[in-house]
Amino acid sequence: MSKEPLLEITDLRLDFKHAGSDRMVEAVRGVDLRVFEGEILGLVGESGSGKSVTALSITGLLPKTASVKSGRIFFEGRDLLALPEEDLRKVRGSRISYVFQDPASSLNPVFTIGDQLMETVMLHQNAGKGDAFDIAAGSLKDVGMPSPKEQMYAYPHQLSGGMRQRVMIAMAIACRPKLLIADEPTTALDVTVQAQILELLSELKEELSLTVILITHDLSIVSQVAEKTAVMQQGRIVEYGDTEMVYRKPSHPYTKKLIDCIPKIGGR
Ligand SMILES: Nc1ncnc2c1ncn2[C@@H]1O[C@H](COP(=O)(O)OP(=O)(O)OP(=O)(O)O)[C@@H](O)[C@H]1O
Ligand SMILES: [Mg+2]
Repeated sequence: MSKEPLLEITDLRLDFKHAGSDRMVEAVRGVDLRVFEGEILGLVGESGSGKSVTALSITGLLPKTASVKSGRIFFEGRDLLALPEEDLRKVRGSRISYVFQDPASSLNPVFTIGDQLMETVMLHQNAGKGDAFDIAAGSLKDVGMPSPKEQMYAYPHQLSGGMRQRVMIAMAIACRPKLLIADEPTTALDVTVQAQILELLSELKEELSLTVILITHDLSIVSQVAEKTAVMQQGRIVEYGDTEMVYRKPSHPYTKKLIDCIPKIGGR
């Protein structure tokens, strides 16, 4: 594993302007974070701690009411915060892609999943229809869809929640990104399906040499798959390290509290 981080966030600060007032709310208060190639970094923390906005800021997907006050986000040798929108658009989807919590709302109900996958592929890869079909079907195969070619013609409502999330992951990896940011990818799924999706992320990490930021409020999920863990609280990273160490010797009281909340199997 190389020593240079694939992604390095330094002193990221950002505010939200609240509707109907001049009051600014600090959402991210000086985040430093490094993500190394080939690892899964689990980013955990309570609701509102700033996990999602940190993730969105990486490729400039923040809402208009947000403003970045300071920081640098280095990825593949460039500061993404300093890139013009046009260059950022090329990074988004092809070098860095996202999977979000709710696959139902991310997929358009009136188009087949094949059409939606092919659209993504054609947009980012300059591929014709025939090639796009093959790449899209290949991507469905990568995420473990049974009979991927037939499934290209399925509509989102014909699939289970877990299968829809596989489609979203297929869409995210179709262009072979370096970095996949999965924001609560299993929160809307039941427990068995959750485990399957986590296993899939681990497999894809190996097979496609992906780097993954896995955002969740659930520390037990992170413990299953992530090599590194970062804990956020109130807009700051309060703990960071090898997942095993974070578990065994948490240094911050908030991390200790989170660990105490994990149900212990077999009461170790
Ligand atoms: N569109 C927005 N407008 C105003 N404030 C926002 C907006 N989005 C997020 N915030 C604020 O930014 C802070 C961080 O929000 P963020 O969504 O990143 O939290 P989170 O850690 O992802 O929480 P969750 O676990 O609930 O997803 C919160 O205080 C939130 O109120
Ligand atoms: Mg969030």
